[in-house]
Amino acid sequence: MKKLFAAFLAVALPVVVFAGCSKEPQPVTLKSVIGSEDSIQGRAGVCVPYDALSDDARMELVCREYNSITCENEMKPESILGQTPTFSNDVDAYGNKIPELDFTRADAILDYILDYNSKNPKDQILVRGHVLVWHSQTPTWFFREGYSATGDYVTPDEMLYREEWYIKSVIEHFDGEGSPYHGLIYAWDVVNEQIEPGDRRSDTNPDSLRLKHNGQPTDWYQVFQGDDAYITQAFVFANKYAPATVKLFYNDYNDSNMPKARAICQLIEKIKATDGARIDGMGMQGHYGIDWDYAINIEKALRLYSEVVDEVQITELDLQTGSQYDGYHYEEEYERQAKWYELFFNMIARLDHEDGIDVTAVTFWGTHDSVSWLNQSSSVGGGANGSRDQMPLLFDKDMNKKPAYYVVTGTQPEAAEET
Ligand code: GLA
Repeated sequence: MKKLFAAFLAVALPVVVFAGCSKEPQPVTLKSVIGSEDSIQGRAGVCVPYDALSDDARMELVCREYNSITCENEMKPESILGQTPTFSNDVDAYGNKIPELDFTRADAILDYILDYNSKNPKDQILVRGHVLVWHSQTPTWFFREGYSATGDYVTPDEMLYREEWYIKSVIEHFDGEGSPYHGLIYAWDVVNEQIEPGDRRSDTNPDSLRLKHNGQPTDWYQVFQGDDAYITQAFVFANKYAPATVKLFYNDYNDSNMPKARAICQLIEKIKATDGARIDGMGMQGHYGIDWDYAINIEKALRLYSEVVDEVQITELDLQTGSQYDGYHYEEEYERQAKWYELFFNMIARLDHEDGIDVTAVTFWGTHDSVSWLNQSSSVGGGANGSRDQMPLLFDKDMNKKPAYYVVTGTQPEAAEET
């Protein structure tokens, strides 16, 4: 708990600091620390699902600690397109009735944020858009003739037409001139997880492009047969419709695996070389585990990404328990975790201070331990199988601050908080 955050320790009790020349005491929170000069001077984020909106304590924590949110599921194609399509009366260029898009749940989250922002003009929360193009949580009917789940796959040309229509519609909904949300989204994950995990480069797949998910060819692969046009063009479409101030990201996991990191950089170079495309940043999802992701690997990969993009964000940070955890002595695991988070935050702060490296946000994937996706088995990948007690975040199952929180913020429990 030395070095970078020592300054905060001096003021840890009571947990307030005096911000700049202002006499107004500011509470020390994740957003004040992550936004500070000693850290990355970036945004502190968290994912928020629709059902959190009815939990006042949880939303109080969100608004107190963070100044960036990501909708956990509500902006994914599955949420917006729906499991089964409904259609408008309009017809697209290929003679199909156009599917209707459902923004209800995403809008509800953004309405909450707008309301908070209107009451807190000096403490605005912004939104990371997540995600426009992905193979998972995207309905198969979107890729098929007649928008029918049992139809044949459409041609690549027709799919690019649909992809452009989808990206345009979603971006315009949230950021069109007349949209109440205009200006709220500061970054989009344009494409998610299109490089194979690990080193699966082969003669038939030299670019390590994502071919399968859960053992089955992805719908994008079925249509494009290994051509990466749907990725490069996604960045053309996003650039065409998003305001220039909105940062465009490629986002992926296993992000500290070096063969994969190199393949991602190669893809980013291809995107950059595509006419009309723009890519500003690399989203390192940051689903790490105490056993396998030491800060040193993450540092190496972050340096590599910084060579090809202007900024890096940690977009879905959490930490799986290690093999030393026996399922009972959680205090020891809390300490190991606090140590890990300390190394991690010191590392990104140090890198951010180097020329040519800009880490602009860290988003945690969940407010507190009991709502983490890692508690259940997950079909979207990432290794969550529900078999082990998980405590990946900075707040425990009751939303109390954990040792890792105190290390990251350089604060100490107040007397009333101690148990
Ligand atoms: C991936 C996705 C996220 C989320 C997590 C697991 O990392 O990018 O949207 O689904 O998996 O919850």
